[in-house]
Amino acid sequence: MQIFLDTANLEEIKKYASYGLLDGVTTNPSLIAKEGVSLEKRIKEICAVVDGPVSAEVLATDYQGMLDEARTYAGWAPNVFVKLPLTMNGIKACRTLTGESIHVNMTLVFSINQAILAAKAGADLVSPFVGRLDDISEDGMSLVRDMVQVFRINSWGAKVLAASIRHPEHVAEAARAGAGIVTIPPAILEQMFVHPLTEKGLAQFLADWEKVKDKQK
Ligand code: E4P
Repeated sequence: MQIFLDTANLEEIKKYASYGLLDGVTTNPSLIAKEGVSLEKRIKEICAVVDGPVSAEVLATDYQGMLDEARTYAGWAPNVFVKLPLTMNGIKACRTLTGESIHVNMTLVFSINQAILAAKAGADLVSPFVGRLDDISEDGMSLVRDMVQVFRINSWGAKVLAASIRHPEHVAEAARAGAGIVTIPPAILEQMFVHPLTEKGLAQFLADWEKVKDKQK
C-alpha cells in the first residue's frame, strides 16, 4: 500500500518526504485555501519535493471548464494528477482527459456505483471518502473493501485511494482491505509512530545502560 500525505502544507510535506515515507500528495480546495497561496504556486512547490502523484482539484463544475483547468494543471509538472468530482460532467471529463494521457483522480466517491463509473471512465485513482461516510453512520471502510474486490474481479487498473482518514485504525483497515493507496493527514501520520510501550521500553533500556556504562570502557 502506498502512503500519500493529505495536505497542502509544504513544511509537513518536506518533513515526511525527508523520512522517505511519501509516495504522493493529495490536496483539495479547502486544504489549499488554508495555506493562503495560489493553487499554481503550491502545486508546483509540492511537485518539486515529491516525485509521485500530486493531486490538484478542478474548481469548474461544467465539462469544458473542467477540461480547460485540467489541461492547465497537467502542464505544471509531469506528476500532477487532476482531481475531478464524481459528477456526470466529472465522469465525461475523466474519459476525455485520460484519452489525452492526463492522469485523473476521481474524488468525492461515496458508493460502489460511483466507483464503477470512475473505473470505467479510465480514472487512474478512485477516492472513497471513508471518514465522511462514517460521519453519517455508514461504514466507510466497507466501501473500500467492495471497491478492492470489484476492481480485482473485473481486472480494472484503477487504484483504490482510501481518503478522508480520521484515525490510525483507518490506515490499518485500509491496508487490511487491500487499498492500493491511503492518503493520511499529517496529524494522523504522526500518531502512527507512537506507542506507549515503545517509549517505556526505550526509557528502561537507557536507564539500565546508564547504570553500567562506565564499566564498558
Ligand atoms: C482526499 O483526497 C481529500 O483531500 C480528503 O481525504 C478529504 O478528507 P476530509 O473528509 O477529512 O476533508
